[in-house]
Amino acid sequence: MTSAESSSADVAAAGTATVTAIANQKGGVGKSTTTINLGASLAMQGDRVLLVDLDPQGNTSSGLGIDRTTIDRSTYDLLIEDTAIEDVVEPTSVRDLFLVPATIELAGAEIELVSLFSREMRLANALKEAREDYDVILIDCPPSLGLLTVNGLAAADEVMIPIQCEYYALEGVSQLIRNVKLVQQNLNPQLEVEGVVLTMYDGRTTLSSDVVEQVREHFGETTYRTVVPRTVRLSEAPSYGEPIEAFDPMSRGAIAYRELAREYRRRHGRT
Ligand SMILES: Nc1ncnc2c1ncn2[C@@H]1O[C@H](COP(=O)(O)OP(=O)(O)O)[C@@H](O)[C@H]1O
Ligand SMILES: [Mg+2]
Repeated sequence: MTSAESSSADVAAAGTATVTAIANQKGGVGKSTTTINLGASLAMQGDRVLLVDLDPQGNTSSGLGIDRTTIDRSTYDLLIEDTAIEDVVEPTSVRDLFLVPATIELAGAEIELVSLFSREMRLANALKEAREDYDVILIDCPPSLGLLTVNGLAAADEVMIPIQCEYYALEGVSQLIRNVKLVQQNLNPQLEVEGVVLTMYDGRTTLSSDVVEQVREHFGETTYRTVVPRTVRLSEAPSYGEPIEAFDPMSRGAIAYRELAREYRRRHGRT
């Protein structure tokens, strides 16, 4: 085999899914809400989607109605026990939307990973085979820059950064970008920032529009045109275990995430 042939074979073996890590080490900026609702909207628009809950708090899992007390296999097993991906994936109430759930056990993984071989690449290795079974894999990262997040970044092709339209919106973002670059240089050369998504926009405040302006100035075209509004319905949906598309499809939140999914698909040439 020539080297050109072998490298194209390697690409084919890597599979077809785009893997997007949804990351920001700040808590409460809309990572889990975006993972659930972007994922559900993508599935409804024809993609086969896998969500990976990489946060010990498990908001993506509970927000999709997964009872975390009855789960026997989780992201923890994927990372620490070498459990095969197909033994960890759960279906959800949305067709073509699947989930690797997280339990509180995952909190321990941050420490247990330290002494394991290839500790930064555990998730990347675990997801290798899954790439062939999905169009999109979204990884919901925890609100930290520790080993779990590094695993998320090392396993991804790209990073989506949700930024809340609030005071200090950009605080910490440059540190996140530095980490992305470190992972790019040392673990995952193809990693890039795919997009920045503005969340919890409140049209009644000038603060919100100031943040939008500031973020667009800083990130330019990387910023998604779709801005997710702050709406009560979006914050209520998780307690019903449903994505907003199912909970209230006519709401502003549902419309926004549907539009975000369209924009994501356009950016990835999937329309
Ligand atoms: N657009 C929104 N409008 C209103 N509430 C929201 C919105 N996005 C997220 N929330 C709520 O804000 C809180 C934090 O959001 P979450 O997605 O869990 O953030 P993160 O995963 O970054 O910690 C949750 O209670 C969530 O329901
Ligand atoms: Mg979260």
